[in-house]
Amino acid sequence: MPRIAYVNGLYTPLRDAAVSIEDRGYLFADAVYEVWSVFDGRLADMAGHINRLERSLRELQINMPMPRESLLVVLGEVVRRNRLREGMVYLQISRGVAPRDHVFPGDDVKPAVIITAKPVDREAAARKAEAGIKAITVPDIRWGRCDIKTVGLLPNVLAKQQAKEQGAGEVIFVDRDGYVTEGGSTNVYMVGADNVIRTRSLTANILAGVTRLNLMKIIDQEGFQVEERPFTVDELKAAREVFITAATSLVLPVIAIDGTPVGNGAPGLVATSLRELYIDHARATAGV
Ligand code: PDD
Repeated sequence: MPRIAYVNGLYTPLRDAAVSIEDRGYLFADAVYEVWSVFDGRLADMAGHINRLERSLRELQINMPMPRESLLVVLGEVVRRNRLREGMVYLQISRGVAPRDHVFPGDDVKPAVIITAKPVDREAAARKAEAGIKAITVPDIRWGRCDIKTVGLLPNVLAKQQAKEQGAGEVIFVDRDGYVTEGGSTNVYMVGADNVIRTRSLTANILAGVTRLNLMKIIDQEGFQVEERPFTVDELKAAREVFITAATSLVLPVIAIDGTPVGNGAPGLVATSLRELYIDHARATAGV
């Protein structure tokens, strides 16, 4: 079955789907995006991602291309037309198509929307989580508005490629003061010797992960202790456990950092149980 994409009002086979070479997303990275995990044909943390999308658009003064309710219908339709049960949905909204000029185009230019969907092998993902992944640390050279989910991801791309070349599955960004900010496409957490879970606060020029938001609620409900405060690479390497979260990786244990094993070098109990709890929650609350 061919994969189906949504492009500016049309559902079209992915291989035929195309946007203009004057799309501002292509010319200037003048676009925002969201990624949903799909469980049983439904979008996980659906509202949280829409809320963040609306915020990203507002921050960039891009209009929401259609009412929220209509967007939900289109997202559901993309899932349905792809007969997607377990997978991911990608949505991108650019400022639109206009002759190249840095300043915003006129009001006649409408935002451009694309949506794609793809299946995910949950068993392979589970095996990956059981093994854990390695990470490397790199300086965080990104811009000052990482709270906005823009497609301007070149520092993330370069860093994640560097990680791959060093046999690692994720990169951990470190700010100028030596504190961890977040991952290349994930939020980062450590579990200290005191069993307290630590993660950077949202004031630290990081993305407010929707997975993070929901996991923090679960952490609270389950009675784990959590603290939002800066931590250094040395603290991270000395941690009992390290893990990352995102719509793509869900909750994923990190077993080595820059070649140093974390804890005993295997996924820990906290990360493993939080992964299960998060997946149960995501499945149970998935919508559309
Ligand atoms: N990335 N931090 C960064 C820099 C990210 O790119 C992401 C998500 C996250 C986690 O956000 P969430 O839990 O809402 O997925 C944190 C997506 C999945 C991506 O770029 O593919």
